[in-house]
Amino acid sequence: MDMNLSIINFTLFLLLASYTNGQQVIFDIRKYGASPNRDITQALKNAWKDACASTRAAKILFPAITYKLAQVDLRGPCKAPIEVQVNGELRAPANPDKLDGNAQWVKFTYINFFTLSGGGIFDGQGPTAWKQNDCGKNKNCKKLSMNFGFGFLNNSIVRDITSKDSKNFHVNVLGCNNMTFVNFKITAPATSLNTDGIHIGRSSDIKVISSSIATGDDCISLGDGSRHINIFNVTCGPGHGISVGSLGKYTNEDPVEGLIVRNCTFKNTDNGVRIKTWPGTPGATTVSDLHYEDITMVNVRNPILIEQDYCPYNQCSRQTPSKVKISKVTFKKIKGTSASPIGVTLVCSSGVPCERTQLSDIDLTFNGAPTTAKCVNVRPIIGCEEEELFGHREDERAEGGDVGLQGLARDGHEVLGEGDADLFCLVLLLEDTAVGPIVRAFMGADGVDELVLGTAAVRGAIGEEDGGTAHAEEAVGDEHGAVVAEVPIESDVLHAYY
Ligand SMILES: *[C@@H]1O[C@H](CO)[C@@H](O)[C@H](O)[C@H]1NC(C)=O
Ligand SMILES: *[C@@H]1O[C@H](CO)[C@@H](O)[C@H](O)[C@H]1NC(C)=O
Ligand SMILES: *[C@@H]1O[C@H](CO)[C@@H](O)[C@H](O)[C@H]1NC(C)=O
Ligand SMILES: *[C@@H]1O[C@H](CO)[C@@H](O)[C@H](O)[C@H]1NC(C)=O
Repeated sequence: MDMNLSIINFTLFLLLASYTNGQQVIFDIRKYGASPNRDITQALKNAWKDACASTRAAKILFPAITYKLAQVDLRGPCKAPIEVQVNGELRAPANPDKLDGNAQWVKFTYINFFTLSGGGIFDGQGPTAWKQNDCGKNKNCKKLSMNFGFGFLNNSIVRDITSKDSKNFHVNVLGCNNMTFVNFKITAPATSLNTDGIHIGRSSDIKVISSSIATGDDCISLGDGSRHINIFNVTCGPGHGISVGSLGKYTNEDPVEGLIVRNCTFKNTDNGVRIKTWPGTPGATTVSDLHYEDITMVNVRNPILIEQDYCPYNQCSRQTPSKVKISKVTFKKIKGTSASPIGVTLVCSSGVPCERTQLSDIDLTFNGAPTTAKCVNVRPIIGCEEEELFGHREDERAEGGDVGLQGLARDGHEVLGEGDADLFCLVLLLEDTAVGPIVRAFMGADGVDELVLGTAAVRGAIGEEDGGTAHAEEAVGDEHGAVVAEVPIESDVLHAYY
């Protein structure tokens, strides 16, 4: 009897699976009963069960056909590497009530060597849900499902896939190690609420390469415990830019360390590169080794932004400064246009000032004129590395077109000039936090050309701008927290699972 059953099972397996010329066993979703424009949830679950049990590398294949898919949670561990190749389109239910808002629409978890590929589209059908989103007014608003959840994956790849119109964040990466997104596309209208692109938390060695992200919220956001994150050749916009944080709200947050953002373009985004931490909250984690290099800004409102007084809708007390320590952050070769007069805003914590912040080769303009910079509780090192620039500067100064170092020092700020043959640096010592020192920095393509202290009028204008930074993402200020809060639950499940 048992033997007969296993023969039947084996025969079934032969019917459903086929081999490619390579090593992969193919599980075609059509063989599991999938038909065009119909719901294929059960077919996918069955295919997953078989593919995940395969002792040879498996591939679930979706042809270039549109299907409907309800919420699925596809779990490993699997016996061998597994790939899901979607050549067509998968559509979520448009009605948000049909999905559990606390879970993602399509979830892949606890898998080693997972690949999602195929050039296909995952359409979250968000517009109905966005219309119902009242999270801006209602703290207990309904949770909306994200398109993708990638949890506890190792050595995995998502390539040639589009995530469209998610009801909420597009992608949540949690507890993953060595995961790469390449040629990944995210699209949602600028006006869609909380449609962050990729949120990464408690994960290491995550790469986002050659991808484009257009959303109504953060393009990529890094939550606590993000380590060794590499973002390369990514175009962002519309949206709110690449953000670290917000951090500091909770006491159990892990450090964020090791981020490289290189060769990226921001187009019409609210922010470019941003770090945000809450004041008046207990979290005392650290943020270090963040490097932003070779970045183009096109009409970006806040191109470079550190905000340690991040407190949307006055949800916090500003009585005490942020306890999150930021160190070793470099901004290098950042060029283009700003949509506001302030290109660089570094507002660090008075409790734990930023350390070793470096700016070089910053060339940002607003209406054709160089942008200004605002620095609080930070001594940025402003420098350039090429030897020839030193000579260039000397020439200019001889012509008398520059504000001299002494001039700056006399205004209550100390400026150290450090010159040697191959390194020219200016170290600005901004001690005068009481008045919130504002430095108007003209930073040319080839380094620092001129530094001018802002006048009272400039300070006034900047103060007004700061008042109105309410962005759509703040509507669910706890969204990142919610993602983090999921971790202990997931970890428990992980332990139980093994
Ligand atoms: C992923 O790697 C971590 C750390 O090495 C390990 O503890 C975990 O079991 C791995 N998960 C899978 C699904 O292989
Ligand atoms: C990371 O994952 C990729 C994709 O599976 C794999 O080819 C690569 O060897 C992994 N890298 C390390 C350091 O394990
Ligand atoms: C950058 O990404 C685009 C796709 O967005 C791709 O066509 C191009 O080849 C990538 N360039 C590099 C240098 O990787
Ligand atoms: C990356 O650099 C290449 C070469 O300079 C450039 O053509 C491309 O637009 C850059 N990619 C982004 C996303 O900025």
